Amino acid sequence: MATRIAGAAIALIAIVGCSWAVGMTEPDRTAQLAPFRRADAIPFPETNPYSRAKAELGRSLFFDPVLSRDGTRTCGTCHLPSNDWTDDRPRAPRNDGAAMATRTPTLLDVAWSERSLGWDGQFRDLESVAFGPITAAANMNMTEALLIERLSAVPSYVSAFRAAFPEAADEARPITRLRIEQALATFQRLIVAGPAPFDRWVSGETGAVSAAARRGFDLFTGRAHCEACHSGPSFTDGSFHDIGTAQGEEIGRGRFFPTSTALRHAFKTPTLRNVARRPPYMHDGSVTTLAAVIDLYDRGGIDRPSRSRDIRPLNLTPGEKADLIAFLESLTDAGADGPAYQPLPDHPPTP
Ligand code: HEC
Ligand code: HEC
Repeated sequence: MATRIAGAAIALIAIVGCSWAVGMTEPDRTAQLAPFRRADAIPFPETNPYSRAKAELGRSLFFDPVLSRDGTRTCGTCHLPSNDWTDDRPRAPRNDGAAMATRTPTLLDVAWSERSLGWDGQFRDLESVAFGPITAAANMNMTEALLIERLSAVPSYVSAFRAAFPEAADEARPITRLRIEQALATFQRLIVAGPAPFDRWVSGETGAVSAAARRGFDLFTGRAHCEACHSGPSFTDGSFHDIGTAQGEEIGRGRFFPTSTALRHAFKTPTLRNVARRPPYMHDGSVTTLAAVIDLYDRGGIDRPSRSRDIRPLNLTPGEKADLIAFLESLTDAGADGPAYQPLPDHPPTP
């Protein structure tokens, strides 16, 4: 009987609590949400404008093992469309079985982080990335000359390059390094995270995300300072920071700026799109769950001169930690592997 009464009391509290919450007016977050609204168009540079033929050629190259010397690797070996364009390994696999120094970054929303590619920003734009993995001895282990020779021996590639680059229509040897780079970059700019519940909330649908996610967003943009670096619709400032994780010799961006204190151990701010679906985390895959990521920020990482001033112990309650995770989960789309499999559009698509 006592249990029954207690049960009824709890139910009553739940109902009252609930109607109280519903009765509470949602704060007006229009200004707070506006900076996170998706862009109307994917940016394609003037020097490499979009065309469907070029994007299709880029897609063929991206998934073709002909790009690796022994024919065992494609770009998709590590940037798996079914795994949000990364893999589930802490660090990328070398071709000798050992692990590379860093984790494979996702390619989601890569069109918006052009100036800062690679964990340490070693690449200046998307075009200039491709021959990094292609020629790396521990990766695809190719040479430019051998790749061009191999592709030129495949008639369908010769005609695809002629179709993708109209100025090459009459050239006897239309396959060049620049065109390989441009085709791959055009395809990769199509890799955009799909609409998530968070985007529906930004568009005005309050109920699209849970109350916990909304509280988490308030923490994210407020007391927890996350937005200082994870800003804008892709949740990255495209810059480099020491958040207090990297140890010892892992100096990240500091490699290029040996006298800078702030860039020592600084790595690129990753996008948070679909983050809940793609552990492990960080440049070295050293953090295995979102809960562990939040604990790290709560502790404030390693306290040292290079650590960003936006990182400090947060003293979050267990409830606040759960709210932050609920918010991060609201950034998950229905599956963004579309450009890998779907027909590509005639005109530059909208996100
Ligand atoms: C062995 C796994 C592997 C393969 C194969 C691979 N990548 Fe990567 N990719 C990585 C890793 C690891 C990084 C990070 C490198 C760094 O920061 O030093 C990276 C970084 C990138 C980036 C920068 C992304 C960003 O947000 O900073 C792009 C773009 C990219 N790769 C495209 C490609 C393309 C195109 C190919 C095929 C030509 C390719 N990758 C093949 C593992 C791989
Ligand atoms: C000072 C800038 C900065 C602030 C503030 C910041 N981050 Fe980060 N965040 C980064 C950087 C840089 C990385 C990558 C670090 C690395 O790879 O070692 C990162 C990584 C992450 C990752 C892992 C993403 C992945 O793909 O591996 C998550 C999740 C994350 N941050 C969430 C948050 C949350 C939640 C907050 C607020 C509590 C926050 N960040 C505050 C800069 C920041």
